[in-house]
Amino acid sequence: MSMRKEIPEAELARQKEIMERVRSVTESSPRPMLAFVDTYGCQQNESDSEKLRGMLSEMGYGFTRDESEADVVVINTCAVREHAEQRILGNVGALSHTKRANREQIIAMCGCMVQEPGMAERIKRSYPYVDLVFGPHVVWRFPEYLERLLQKRKRIFDTTDDGGAIAEGLPVLRDGSVKAWLSIMYGCNYFCSYCIVPYVRGRERSRRPEDVLREARSLVEAGYKDITLLGQNVNSYGKDLDDGVDFADIIRMVNGIPGDFLIRFMTSHPKDAGERLFAAMAECEKAAHHIHLPFQAGSDRILSAMNRRYTKSDYLEKVRLARSYMPDVVLTSDVIVGFPGETEEDFRETMDVLEQVRFDALFTFIYSKRLGTPAAELADGTPREVKQERFERLLDLQNRISGEKHAEYVGRTVRVLVDAESADERADMLGRTNGGRLVHITGKAEPGSFAEVEITDSNTWALYGHIV
Ligand code: SAH
Ligand code: SF4
Ligand code: F3S
Repeated sequence: MSMRKEIPEAELARQKEIMERVRSVTESSPRPMLAFVDTYGCQQNESDSEKLRGMLSEMGYGFTRDESEADVVVINTCAVREHAEQRILGNVGALSHTKRANREQIIAMCGCMVQEPGMAERIKRSYPYVDLVFGPHVVWRFPEYLERLLQKRKRIFDTTDDGGAIAEGLPVLRDGSVKAWLSIMYGCNYFCSYCIVPYVRGRERSRRPEDVLREARSLVEAGYKDITLLGQNVNSYGKDLDDGVDFADIIRMVNGIPGDFLIRFMTSHPKDAGERLFAAMAECEKAAHHIHLPFQAGSDRILSAMNRRYTKSDYLEKVRLARSYMPDVVLTSDVIVGFPGETEEDFRETMDVLEQVRFDALFTFIYSKRLGTPAAELADGTPREVKQERFERLLDLQNRISGEKHAEYVGRTVRVLVDAESADERADMLGRTNGGRLVHITGKAEPGSFAEVEITDSNTWALYGHIV
């Protein structure tokens, strides 16, 4: 029996009716109504913001990037590190001015941070001009909240956690026309000891394969060329369904959609990424040869304290296996420096993983204590300066490796998906290689087209070349 829950169609139909009612109100306004949606955090949040914009657009709102002229401001928050939260609260603090200038302005906060225990209360107390707070589980109810606020200014706080029933068929307004996010699952069951995500995003649940495929097909038909399948751990896809479809199957199914496009995915947990996935990627001509495989730490002691469920040698073996299927695979990763109790020796194990794997790029973080997670209870005696110094050594090493890896492209001609005009005076266009490396391109090409580019120069962050 599937444990999967869906928001009933009748509920979604009701939200749709509300959107039409709100639209008739906004359309009768003497000037166009404007909304500003500000997004923090990961692609999951970007994807939710695209739904919020979709709903706002259906409700007759246009968009602005200037909060002072917005009728509705939505701050979609992230809770993953303390720094992100402080930045968000600072920016929300500044909204008291826009609200004073425009009493009618509606200010909403949503996303992971508002779902943290105690946070909604804190906002209620300290930010009296915030009208609406709603958690990630009730994004689909946004039209209802907005209509209520338009009718009567009474603050609304809803951080219901219903276990995360899936809402299909919400309108989506995407940012660009070349790259698209496609959520295939939500939530996380892993409970890495440092991480807040499972607490605020709930348990893993997968969209049905037919819903994923329908959306993928519509993206290809709309001309998108780069589709990223999203989930906190995409390898868990389908475990909660009863039709036997797993993540490797999803890649094969999306690959079967006619058209010239790339399939990417984020994120893959090293414990579950394996032969089935690598084989599917190697066989499917549309699957980009890029794996983002966060290793977090190199020391087995720290990995165990992090509850990551693999060892350094397990990880290195996964990398070897991936490269045996795809010798050209681009590997990127996430690393945390300064986890409680990390010694110089532990840190050297992390450096050793960098040397052995030679990642193309790395996302590096200093450990941030998140209340409510098991790691927050651990003694953390390492001084801040020591953590900072390790962090800088890590960056130095990775910058050297990235520079060397990029230099290997010079002289080669590679296929690049052109996605935008370049702001850099040395180039006309920007694009990405199949493996996702950034390319500054000389020569004109349409965004959304594939070009053969001869690479003539490189640095730590990007490649430079001209269209052949
Ligand atoms: N589900 C993804 C990661 C989501 S969070 C995965 O498991 O790979 C993105 C990254 O933020 C993590 O990979 C981790 O490196 C970092 N991160 C998460 N919690 C953190 C914390 N408390 N302090 C510092 N970095 C953290
Ligand atoms: Fe967080 Fe771990 Fe889940 Fe990733 S797998 S979201 S790091 S708990
Ligand atoms: Fe942040 Fe939530 Fe993503 S905590 S990293 S926005 S899942």
